Amino acid sequence: MLKSRERRDASGRPKCGFWHIAAPILVTLIAIALVVSLLLIYVNSQRIRREIDENAEYLNDLVRKVNENPKSTWKAKFNKFGSKAKDYGLKSPRNETAITEYFNLLEKFFEWDIMKNHIKTLQEFPVDELPESFDSREKWSNCPSISYVPNQGGCGSCYAVAAVGVAADRACIQSNGTYKALFSDEDVLGCCAVCGNCLGGDPLKALTYWVQEGLVTGGRDGCRPYSFDTSCGVPCSPAVFPENEKSRGCVRRCQNIYYQNKYDDDKHYASIAYSMYPRGMTLSADGKKRAQVPTIIGHINKTMEEPISLDEIRTILKTELFLFGPTTMAFPVPEEFLHYAEGVFRPITEEKFNDRVVYWHVVRLIGWGKDKDGAHYWLAVNSFGRNWGDNGVFKINVDSMEKFGLEYEAALI
Ligand SMILES: *[C@@H]1O[C@H](CO)[C@@H](O)[C@H](O)[C@H]1NC(C)=O
Ligand SMILES: *[C@@H]1O[C@H](CO)[C@@H](O)[C@H](O)[C@H]1NC(C)=O
Ligand SMILES: *[C@@H]1O[C@H](CO)[C@@H](O)[C@H](O)[C@H]1NC(C)=O
Repeated sequence: MLKSRERRDASGRPKCGFWHIAAPILVTLIAIALVVSLLLIYVNSQRIRREIDENAEYLNDLVRKVNENPKSTWKAKFNKFGSKAKDYGLKSPRNETAITEYFNLLEKFFEWDIMKNHIKTLQEFPVDELPESFDSREKWSNCPSISYVPNQGGCGSCYAVAAVGVAADRACIQSNGTYKALFSDEDVLGCCAVCGNCLGGDPLKALTYWVQEGLVTGGRDGCRPYSFDTSCGVPCSPAVFPENEKSRGCVRRCQNIYYQNKYDDDKHYASIAYSMYPRGMTLSADGKKRAQVPTIIGHINKTMEEPISLDEIRTILKTELFLFGPTTMAFPVPEEFLHYAEGVFRPITEEKFNDRVVYWHVVRLIGWGKDKDGAHYWLAVNSFGRNWGDNGVFKINVDSMEKFGLEYEAALI
């Protein structure tokens, strides 16, 4: 007993002396560390605030430039959710085998009769029967999906949302208004690995998924509703995409309230998917292997003596819209676009355009028209909800953007 107490004392005393000196030093060190980290947090928050303020100032300036320009064809309204162009580091892995499978399928569609007949229909349609302005919502007023404005929220799913919107419109149009369901963006987003993810993707592959795997119903009360948060903005910044990507997954099951069909029985299929306009597709993971996707306009171009003109290209795109319904459109979004309020959007300047591109975006094309100066514009539905832009819809003059290789895609049932 005693021995052990002695030992305790013996070992305790020097410790006590050590703490006598060490404790105040430690407390001082902890205090310094605390002050330093608080200081760092403060400096960092000041930096972020300064960045937000500087961005707001810069973006407000863009808005002012649009509205003060007497020649401007559109009106801007400062949107506090506007983003500045920067590298958001949105890189996705690529599966060469899976992409090549889809690519081969896209080539094969061009050998099928349905495609040959489709191209023939487009070529033979009399140009003078195309109206000067056109709105799919009016022509197919019995198809409510055409007016539906989706909200992609905090996921870079524009490619899926636009493609699935085109699918719903075309399913309704083809059924003469008897099939009225919305399709599920979530089905493409979660279950089509080759199509893309919350960091972006390819609408042509999403339309090919409609052919290959089919689409189930979506909307709020269909088989698979959209699950991504929309509270992060109108639109959400690409900065939130990587975090939300973590919650993306494939669920091959309908939500409980959807008792109509089982997932597999709920699938609706198309027969062919296609790109209208010449474009490439990256096949390999390292991005080095690329191939030209066969396209409708590419095919028509080959049968012509002279290279196809922009006017002729637009006539084919219009005929496709007029006869078969909406298509997707992919285009680069400059910073000022996010502040669009009304009118016919054009980039404020072509100068340093690439430096202002926030991201490439995909929307649903539903019509066209002629601006006061006679210039052609497209009418499109965005995926930022009804409160963005002109009730979720916008008009755009793409003359200065054609050179970037805009993409127009669709499918037939
Ligand atoms: C790539 O795609 C192929 C074909 O769809 C699939 O069998 C394979 O598992 C995929 N590989 C990876 C790593 O996901
Ligand atoms: C399509 O539906 C409309 C009514 O919504 C009807 O008047 C028309 O005859 C239908 N057309 C065909 C080809 O069934
Ligand atoms: C049309 O074909 C010509 C060659 O015949 C080519 O130079 C041109 O880029 C093609 N245009 C399109 C839009 O594919």
